[in-house]
Amino acid sequence: MNVLITGGAGFIGSNLVHYISQFRPNWNMTVVDLLTYAGNLQNISSVLEGPKCKFVRADIADSAAMSKVFSSTRFDLVFHLAAESHVDRSIMGASAFVRTNVLGTQTLLDLARSSDVQRFVHVSTDEVYGSLGREGRFVETTPLDPTSPYAASKAASDLMVLACYKTHRFPVLVTRCTNNYGPYQFPEKFLPLFISNALEDKKLPLYGDGTNVRSWIHVNDHCEGLLRVAEKGREGEVYNLGGEEAAELENRYVAELLLQALKKPKELIEFVKDRPAHDLRYAVDCSKAQRELGWMPAISFEEGLQETVKWYSENRVWWEAIKSGEYLSYYQENYGERLSS
Ligand code: TYD
Repeated sequence: MNVLITGGAGFIGSNLVHYISQFRPNWNMTVVDLLTYAGNLQNISSVLEGPKCKFVRADIADSAAMSKVFSSTRFDLVFHLAAESHVDRSIMGASAFVRTNVLGTQTLLDLARSSDVQRFVHVSTDEVYGSLGREGRFVETTPLDPTSPYAASKAASDLMVLACYKTHRFPVLVTRCTNNYGPYQFPEKFLPLFISNALEDKKLPLYGDGTNVRSWIHVNDHCEGLLRVAEKGREGEVYNLGGEEAAELENRYVAELLLQALKKPKELIEFVKDRPAHDLRYAVDCSKAQRELGWMPAISFEEGLQETVKWYSENRVWWEAIKSGEYLSYYQENYGERLSS
């Protein structure tokens, strides 16, 4: 079985590479990643040392480079995870999101379709549905109503993928997952940013009043869901994947939990100017994945958060190296005027 994983040096992609190497050891993986600021080959170095994984640095929107990748191997399965994924960066500038997420996805679809790929799993996000009030959950048929440029670019790519099924009967599957957490997450996202800032005794910039709700899923539960979708999902279908009900939590509460786990004072939290059009709440109904694929998240948020806090405490070298250079200019641009010091 030959598998192409785009974005395999990023957060979810690198965890998927480790997961496949552990649970599908016979699969041959090719990882394609452009290694932009968020991609890091260190994330998968142990797997790359073995015989089952090779790496190609390429831009998924570059059809000449990607056509070389597709002509070097006949892939049975594609997991497409390469994407620009940070809402705050998309607010600062959206064009990279359109190029990678929309054009990049279409480039892959064209090449995969002409090279007889058997399954194409497009990894998307619950953010394409927009924002929920305090009640209710998104189902797969909820109309798309994205708020941020990031979510809009993912919604556009979802529609191109689904159109490829409707028009050409190309065997695509789309997953829409809630907020992931775990090792190797770039420290611009809420949990790794807050954990690493707390470890450095820096302020935790909590947007608005901190009552926005996110549904948290451990990245390994997500990876298991992706394998089930690839192996058992129905072509042309969308599957929501998400955390357990108990992991639908207000940001403020999550910030306090992680400070407790690190034995740091609550005073590190600083309420800062809100993100524009900040979605109030995300939560998905995963009963379709449960019914059709027998999938459910297995890692409780309590257990997963402890393990994740431990990982960031023990892997300071990994995130300290990242929190330099380009990161510092991003941090200054996004938080400079928001934070008191
Ligand atoms: P994030 O990790 O950016 O994911 P998303 O917005 O895609 O869900 O943010 C998660 C939540 O945390 C979201 O409600 C915004 C909030 N947040 C903060 O309060 N402060 C921050 O510095 C960041 C990055 C996020």
